[in-house]
Amino acid sequence: MSSIVCLETLDAMMTYRDQLLPGQNVALVPTMGSLHQGHLALVEEAKRLAPEVIVSIFVNPLQFGPHEDFEKYPRDLARDLRLLESYRPLSVFAPSVSEMYPQGPSRTVITLPSMTNVMCGLGRPGHFDGVATVVCKLFNVVRPSVALFGKKDAQQLAIIRQLTRDLNFPVEIVGVPTVREPSGLALSSRNQYLTPVEKDRAAFLYQALLAGQKRFEGGERNAEKLVEEVADVLREHSIEPEYVSLVDANTLVPLEEELGTSRAILALAARIGKARLIDNVVLEP
Ligand code: PAJ
Repeated sequence: MSSIVCLETLDAMMTYRDQLLPGQNVALVPTMGSLHQGHLALVEEAKRLAPEVIVSIFVNPLQFGPHEDFEKYPRDLARDLRLLESYRPLSVFAPSVSEMYPQGPSRTVITLPSMTNVMCGLGRPGHFDGVATVVCKLFNVVRPSVALFGKKDAQQLAIIRQLTRDLNFPVEIVGVPTVREPSGLALSSRNQYLTPVEKDRAAFLYQALLAGQKRFEGGERNAEKLVEEVADVLREHSIEPEYVSLVDANTLVPLEEELGTSRAILALAARIGKARLIDNVVLEP
């Protein structure tokens, strides 16, 4: 059985890209591997949008803090390639760290200060600079016409949409809905760190967000009250969140008074056992 093309160097990736027909749509799905159904939903959508799909698999050291789980982050390229088999034709770009950063950590850093000093940016300084920088590198190497990202990482998606506009990348950014377990828990590679009991507790993160969303749908427009609603549900289940935030969906500016007419994101982060988990819901006015 012929397997999928796995490109491991920048040269191989760029040569492969050069050989594609001019004007052909190319979809990029950036990932850090350890693939699950959430990633595969992006791949499925990519297949619908473009005849050429490239999945990148790269655990990017630049986006991990010094005390985070870069070393422990789950990696299994052979398993990832097997999962992607059924989506052939498809190519994988899986470079090493020294291939992506041959001179050590990139001296050029892409940073969007007003969008990184909120939500996850506060507890993970430098994280989104690392994400923005590696995504720019991937855009330059792969030159996709469309790139797909999950709505689960709402802050990441908003930042990538913004940098794409700011830096004039000729790429369409597509957001894909969050894939969840039947319990409501958003799929994440980091769920592997949870024990079965912790997994049950983690399902309350989404339940708490749904309580906030329900309150919004019932007519509540006061930002503080909506955030409190979510925090109350978490407290009932003895979950101490790192944050619960209500922000403008495009700019990520925190909403502190009455909600207006623009879309908002109600988001949270919390540590359950060894995993730091995030989730969000959109409030559509
Ligand atoms: P990773 O966590 O591997 O996620 C890759 C992509 O899958 C992201 O766009 C993420 O939002 C999406 N995703 C993860 N879980 C999902 C779920 N349950 N439902 C839908 N989509 C989901 O995010 C990253 O990697 C990195 O920061 C990256 C963008 C690759 C840059 O290094």
